[in-house]
Amino acid sequence: MLTGKRILLILSGGIAAFKCHDLIRRLRERGASVRCVLTPAAARFVTPLSLQALSEDKVYSDLFSLTDESEMGHINLSREADLLVVAPASANILARMAQGLADDLATTVLLATDKAVLVAPAMNVRMWLHPATRANVATLRSRGVAFVGPNEGAMACNEFGPGRMSEPLEIVAAIEAYFTGRLPAAEPPPLISGPSVIRMPPEPMGGAIAHRPLMSRRAIVTSGPTREAIDPVRYISNHSSGKQGHAIAGALAALGAEVTLVTGPVGVADPAGVKVVRVESADDMLAACRAALPADIVVCAAAVADWKVRNAANGKLKKVPGAAPPALELVPNPDILASLAASGPQRPALVVGFAAETENVVANAVAKRERKGCDWIVANDVSPATGTFGGDRNTVHLVTASGVEAWPTLAKDAVAEELARRVVRHFGTSGVVAAS
Ligand code: C5P
Repeated sequence: MLTGKRILLILSGGIAAFKCHDLIRRLRERGASVRCVLTPAAARFVTPLSLQALSEDKVYSDLFSLTDESEMGHINLSREADLLVVAPASANILARMAQGLADDLATTVLLATDKAVLVAPAMNVRMWLHPATRANVATLRSRGVAFVGPNEGAMACNEFGPGRMSEPLEIVAAIEAYFTGRLPAAEPPPLISGPSVIRMPPEPMGGAIAHRPLMSRRAIVTSGPTREAIDPVRYISNHSSGKQGHAIAGALAALGAEVTLVTGPVGVADPAGVKVVRVESADDMLAACRAALPADIVVCAAAVADWKVRNAANGKLKKVPGAAPPALELVPNPDILASLAASGPQRPALVVGFAAETENVVANAVAKRERKGCDWIVANDVSPATGTFGGDRNTVHLVTASGVEAWPTLAKDAVAEELARRVVRHFGTSGVVAAS
């Protein structure tokens, strides 16, 4: 239905900008081409590089770029589009659009265009309900700007109400409706005020997630390194901090799952609301995971040592002056992920692995998904320059049967929360519990 349609996607600043990766993919799957324009604030949430890779087109953000003006020109950006879509549309860009400001490339294109404009707002609920935003929305609607959303739900700012950006497929549906002459009705969404805007109690994960759609699900998460004994006082291990695995366990628990966290020795605190099983070796980790079955979800985030020492010594190996150092014979450890993915009738419905790579991250992860028999692979680049190992941020690709998604660099907590949201979506639980 969208074959050959040209969408100019204008992103303004907001955490929902992250959903635009999926939006671009969905539009392109349907045959549309997508060209992106970013406000400076949007570029702080998503990278031009990721948008460029997904749209396979240049990404525009600079009003005063001589190159862009000579090659394309801001007027041509709208001329060469069939529809302008502003997603996410912050309160700020709505205000600038309503005022007719043209103080960056995005608003200049929006002021100069003669094409239809569809807007997907995303903002804090109080900003959405503020009389200034209401007036701006009314002004824009009176000029023919169409709106999709926002949706109502729990928000990253710890409140509940309207303000969440529509999901990518809802935006796609609105775009398709435009091209088939069924654009959503032009009345403003009902004003919601008073008791519908409710401050949620703080959540264990820091407040971002305020509903429990995984309530009936059991999850196993592995985290941290393993230690493979050489003798009673020495071992082989790695630098895994456990931060990502622990954050995932916490995020799943915050969404209501009953989580068993099987962890190697780490320095990070236990996440709230999870059962923690502490192990040392890969063999122990596998046994603990098997003991925690059955489960609906398993996420293997542990950095399991690939090898263990055959016949680790029972007593401390002694240094003998003049003698050669002991030769260690290594044998492979069990692959916990592959083993859980192949656990027959007990196989969890969703098996997620990690791929820590230093090169060819995506290609290796795609191959690993097949090899290990898991459903998803979260792939990350752990080459030293990225600071992923032991650091607080992570840049990942999510590899599933339907493709590869590049996520922007996020705090490990945010990666965990997004992964947990994907798990919710996978199980088809829309689950926003109405605030009371
Ligand atoms: O083979 P590789 O170590 O790259 O695979 C990484 C993924 O497999 C991670 O999800 C890790 O937790 C899991 N794994 C495992 N048991 C092993 C090796 C890796 O569960 N022995």
